[in-house]
Amino acid sequence: MMISKKMEEALNQQIAFEGYASFLYLSMATWCDHKGLQGCAKFLQRQSEEERMHMMKIFEYLSDVDGFAKTPGISEPPHEFKTVQEVFQSVYEHEKKVTQSINKLVALANKEDDYATQTFLQWYVNEQREEEAQMRTVLDRITLIGDGPQSLYFIDKEMEALNKAAEAAESAGEEA
Ligand code: FEO
Repeated sequence: MMISKKMEEALNQQIAFEGYASFLYLSMATWCDHKGLQGCAKFLQRQSEEERMHMMKIFEYLSDVDGFAKTPGISEPPHEFKTVQEVFQSVYEHEKKVTQSINKLVALANKEDDYATQTFLQWYVNEQREEEAQMRTVLDRITLIGDGPQSLYFIDKEMEALNKAAEAAESAGEEA
């Protein structure tokens, strides 16, 4: 089957969106690392890699449906952030925008009766639900810990715990 030009163009915009998210989270990881927040840095590095994987999945899909994936130019992300709370709030806001963008893609695929793309996008719909829920968990924990003088140490420990849980889930998945 061949994908429509309009759907191809919309998926290429999503490629650019995922690519930007990957670089944005990498920049945030670097900022955290520089502040000595290794747990936060590692969490954001993983998120950055996930975004690259989200981008690459669209490359593969477009190749399968005889479309053409464009390697995007990426705008320079910010390098400075005020606080770690602000970093994770921004990630959450960004993820909500990505969800809206995925929903628009689903609406377009429905309008075009493009069943293959509808099915392909279901993976992203589930992924966005998980990512938003995860970021809400992170923000809730940061709020609980508060912003007292010791808070950064405890926030970083919490993020390290989330990293360990993610690693355990990954290796369980590999064994399954
Ligand atoms: Fe690729 Fe976090 O959305």
